[in-house]
Amino acid sequence: MIGKIYGTGSYVPPNVMENDDLANFVETSDEWIKERTGIMRRHIAQEEDMVYMAVKSAERALKNANIIAEEIDFIIVSTISSSVVLPCAACEVQKEIGAVNATCFDLNAACSGFLFAYNTAQAYIASGIYKTGIVIGAEKLSNLIDWKDRGTCILFGDGAGAVVLKAVEGKQFPLITHSEGEKGKALTCWQNDFIHMDGQEVFKFAIKQVPKCICELLEQNHLQKEEIDYFVLHQANRRIVEAVAKRLQVEIEKFPMNLQEYGNTSSASIPILLDEMNHKGIIKRGMRIIISGFGAGLSWGASLVEW
Ligand code: COA
Repeated sequence: MIGKIYGTGSYVPPNVMENDDLANFVETSDEWIKERTGIMRRHIAQEEDMVYMAVKSAERALKNANIIAEEIDFIIVSTISSSVVLPCAACEVQKEIGAVNATCFDLNAACSGFLFAYNTAQAYIASGIYKTGIVIGAEKLSNLIDWKDRGTCILFGDGAGAVVLKAVEGKQFPLITHSEGEKGKALTCWQNDFIHMDGQEVFKFAIKQVPKCICELLEQNHLQKEEIDYFVLHQANRRIVEAVAKRLQVEIEKFPMNLQEYGNTSSASIPILLDEMNHKGIIKRGMRIIISGFGAGLSWGASLVEW
């Protein structure tokens, strides 16, 4: 069995922070941020907490999938920004949407989190343990940002995205995930502290490992890059996406981006982008998409999605 995406949903807070707004409290400029990252604005949660955004995205994904909450066997929430330790966010989502039959847990693999959660969901489905589930990436990173640190505060935003997966006949595709704890210091966030990052090290890591793991995925699935319709990468930085496209020698048009609007929303970025593409009718049934996440850990991976 394999999990097919039956529906997508997302929620981004209506409150927008433009690059120029940031220039009011750190020494930066719209020009610098746009040139180095491609980001123009980000959405910052006010009243909404991470769970609220996760719930909204799950409700919308269920509606889009035309599946009732009672059918859901599992909910996985990928997040690094929960304001509560217990109960887990996935149980809170279960309660709010009425998915009374679901097994629920959270997963932390930072910006690779959605990819790792998606792969975990596929493993459950392939083994026959569960049939139908929701995978959510939800983040309120604005709580973890030092708004005085121009090296990080310009990058991140808040939001949530979800996909509903349902088992269909088919053989599970090989999935790729990697972790390298030795390099963990490059991107950290200790309790009661903020996100700290060696931007250049993370940048170099991403542009080296992402193309490599995409090639690994293609090879293991006996596919050529030309057979892939879209490459949906974690939305961290336009220059990272462009560098990956260049290294893979694939035209940039196959790498959709929305980071200009939302910044880096960590584990929410891939499902928010998938939802946008789904609603705009950009992705059609039968298309092949590679999703790829990377971030703290360090961790990274890629997965093949047949829409
Ligand atoms: N505005 C203006 N100037 C800034 C700035 C800002 N927001 N942030 C840093 N600078 C300055 C630096 O102080 C430095 O000045 P100096 O030359 O006088 O010392 C200069 O700009 C260059 O800094 P540098 O850190 O070399 O810039 P960069 O080109 O590496 O860009 C990042 C910085 C953070 C945008 C980039 O490294 C990056 O995107 N890295 C990946 C981060 C990421 O994606 N993390 C999440 C992964 S999941």
